[in-house]
Amino acid sequence: MQPMGSAPLLDISHLAIGFGGQNAVHDLSLTIAPGQTAGLVGESGSGKSLTSLAVLGLLPSGASASGSIRFAGQPLLGQPEPVLRRLRGREIAMIFQEPMTALNPVMTIGDQIAEAILAHPDTLPHLAAHRSTVRERVVQALQQVALPEPERRLRHYPHQFSGGQRQRILIAMALVHRPRLLIADEPTTALDVTVQAQILELLAQLRHTHNLAMLFISHDLAVVARACNQPGDTVTVLQQGRVVEQAPARQLFLAPGHAYTQRLLASVPTLRTDRLQPLATLRQA
Ligand SMILES: Nc1ncnc2c1ncn2[C@@H]1O[C@H](COP(=O)(O)OP(=O)(O)OP(=O)(O)O)[C@@H](O)[C@H]1O
Ligand SMILES: [Mg+2]
Repeated sequence: MQPMGSAPLLDISHLAIGFGGQNAVHDLSLTIAPGQTAGLVGESGSGKSLTSLAVLGLLPSGASASGSIRFAGQPLLGQPEPVLRRLRGREIAMIFQEPMTALNPVMTIGDQIAEAILAHPDTLPHLAAHRSTVRERVVQALQQVALPEPERRLRHYPHQFSGGQRQRILIAMALVHRPRLLIADEPTTALDVTVQAQILELLAQLRHTHNLAMLFISHDLAVVARACNQPGDTVTVLQQGRVVEQAPARQLFLAPGHAYTQRLLASVPTLRTDRLQPLATLRQA
């Protein structure tokens, strides 16, 4: 599933996740090379979030995982918490669906980004001693996601921003340590269609400038089509925890091979909106 010659950054092999005797994810394998996006799509409860949490070592208690997950060759499953903590936020970052709940409502966004920067002080030698350097990095982080007037806005609280701006702030925070892998779990689902398109555009830009590998999760195939639009991008379709289709993105959208994928495509609720466009473009290509 990866272009020849580029070793996978993330390599998930035969992953199974269960609760007691019940498996919620069965035999999932996928790889993501640097700079590539892998889309993971499926209806509610199909196991998308559990898969991403397994990568981060954040599975809920009671869940057990088998198979293997390797990041840059290093096995992740079963690693002790301090090892995973060192990777989280630094090598592997994550953004979620609801930017409001992921932000602390009583802390300015500048302080929250500074906190993210200082969470891995060893990556920033002597930085902790220099408040102005931290502030500079906060401003840079906000500039990078095109938040207007960052110097002024960093003193504001989450409720003073729109939903799209809050997601930009979370993306800024996720990228402060220049992670190699970004896991985006329904990052645009809570946003209206226009803002959704802007965030997807921003992610596409950042992906390019950072050579970011991305695991992009959505129940909405139209959104996945937009996120996975570069050569080498792949899409994995999950149904009740099982992979029913896995293919290069372009191929999957041109000719969905599985009835479930066809149903997902047909049932995209926003087909009458401008999100039809990426699908139309792909069909023409
Ligand atoms: N803490 C838990 N305890 C027991 N079962 C769980 C738990 N978390 C998830 N599951 C089971 O795993 C399945 C997959 O959950 P998951 O959150 O990965 O779905 P999802 O694809 O992310 O869905 P959504 O689109 O609604 O976010 C669920 O249907 C549920 O049955
Ligand atoms: Mg989920």
